[in-house]
Amino acid sequence: DWTPDSFVETTIAALKEKLGDDKVVLGLSGGVDSSVAAVLLHHAIGKNLHCIFVDNGLLRKDEYQSVLDSYQHMGLNIKGIDAKQRFYDALAGLTDPEKKRKAIGRVFIEVFDDAAHEVQNVKWLGQGTIYPDVIESVSVKGPSATIKSHHNVGGLPDFMKLKVVEPLNTLFKDEVRRVGKALGIDPNILGRHPFPGPGLAIRILGEVTPEKVHILQEADAIYINNLRSADVYDKVWQAGSIFLPVQSVGVMGDERTYENVICLRAVESLDGMTADWCHLPYDLLAKISNEIINNVKGINRVVYDISSKPPATIEWE
Ligand code: XMP
Repeated sequence: DWTPDSFVETTIAALKEKLGDDKVVLGLSGGVDSSVAAVLLHHAIGKNLHCIFVDNGLLRKDEYQSVLDSYQHMGLNIKGIDAKQRFYDALAGLTDPEKKRKAIGRVFIEVFDDAAHEVQNVKWLGQGTIYPDVIESVSVKGPSATIKSHHNVGGLPDFMKLKVVEPLNTLFKDEVRRVGKALGIDPNILGRHPFPGPGLAIRILGEVTPEKVHILQEADAIYINNLRSADVYDKVWQAGSIFLPVQSVGVMGDERTYENVICLRAVESLDGMTADWCHLPYDLLAKISNEIINNVKGINRVVYDISSKPPATIEWE
């Protein structure tokens, strides 16, 4: 019978056997899959696992530092790379969602390739691919997939010539979470909502600028913290905030304002393929809206997305 403990035991033994004294590089994203894959590999080969965590400047507020801290806490051999400016430069002037995705994918590959080169004699690329990624012909989840979708864009980066080790490729998401729990991984990492690889770039409609990222991070942090303190976070499959490309008129004191709009999104789903918008309590929405408008400079209006998938998608871009 399959149990998380038996999976952990047999997988670690198999990884030891397969990898011997070889070195592995793995890109961590802060998400569940790459984290569980990294911890399994760490148990099998220890310091021969070299993790790379890229700050693309498109993560949630304070997420880069807190995730990096918790990885270091777990004893992972991890290198954090601040590449914010490279991503912002690549995004400047782009408004088309697919062009934004491509630019982010390209810079990620460049940054990862540089970092992987610093590991001498590396033989393997570790990935957090799970079973649904394997069966989906075009997967869009996680840095691993960002890499896949750029496979044929001008020659392979060197790290992609490595052999691939994917310890989770027979598991479904809920099994990955159970394995993560058996490994003692921080529940905050295991329970984290899915978050797209291109991050906040596809939640800022139109051109991405560091200023918009900052505003969205502040608003989103208020939203997510309120979901947590109201005990709603774990009941929602995915929540996030969107920076809309419109300005609207408002009034503050006796002043007329003309500022930006934040849209809140929360959905219930099993796998992201279909999703229903969450009926969040009005009182909670009211509190979040007030807090955002009163505290985030540049925002004078908050709206809530009441569209389900299909025909809407979860993300706006
Ligand atoms: P949609 O918007 O297609 O999203 O309903 C379904 C799920 O996929 C995530 N998503 C992405 N994940 N790169 C990713 O890694 C992407 O480009 C991307 N686009 C959407 C989305 O957050 C949701 O969980």
